[in-house]
Amino acid sequence: MEWLARVMGARRAIEVGTFTGYSALCLARGLGPQGRLLCLDINEDWTHVARTYWRKAGVADRIALRLGPAATTLATLPQEPGFDLGFIDADKENGRLYYEEVLARLRPGGVLILDNVLWGGKVVERRQHPGDTSLQAICELNDFAAADERVQPAFLPLGDGLLLLRKR
Ligand SMILES: C[S@@+](CC[C@H](N)C(=O)[O-])C[C@H]1O[C@@H](n2cnc3c(N)ncnc32)[C@H](O)[C@@H]1O
Repeated sequence: MEWLARVMGARRAIEVGTFTGYSALCLARGLGPQGRLLCLDINEDWTHVARTYWRKAGVADRIALRLGPAATTLATLPQEPGFDLGFIDADKENGRLYYEEVLARLRPGGVLILDNVLWGGKVVERRQHPGDTSLQAICELNDFAAADERVQPAFLPLGDGLLLLRKR
């Protein structure tokens, strides 16, 4: 993700789901000293850990953290294409909502990244896990994104699977 931010020359990014701050740290490094990363998370304890390591890594001044339900925070952001890069990695049941809110705020040519699109491999045997609501939401969003004319998708089978979507 640092590499991607660098090759894109991205300066403004948004992350939905920050946890202890590792992906944010990578993104912030890729954005460079003039970059700005907006992080959304609901958990104060985990993001307290994140803040500690952002400071140690020297990137704290380029990261703004907004605590609260991401759906609520996203609704408060200006309706303008202010981001070059977006990363969605929070509660999967709200994935489609985050997708629409972040995509609406990406510039044309910007990239939206979805994490966990493989869900440990369960996406290929989705009918064997009928009670897994995260899995159902991920499969629906994968299918939707693959057919979404507003974006050009590329799948990276790294980690738990990343879907990269370039906004047309
Ligand atoms: C998988 S972790 C993020 C990991 C992080 N992106 C990384 O790679 O280092 C998911 C995060 O989503 C956050 N989250 C879950 N539901 C949320 C919600 N409704 N609004 C905002 N954040 C939420 C959790 O608190 C958790 O920190």
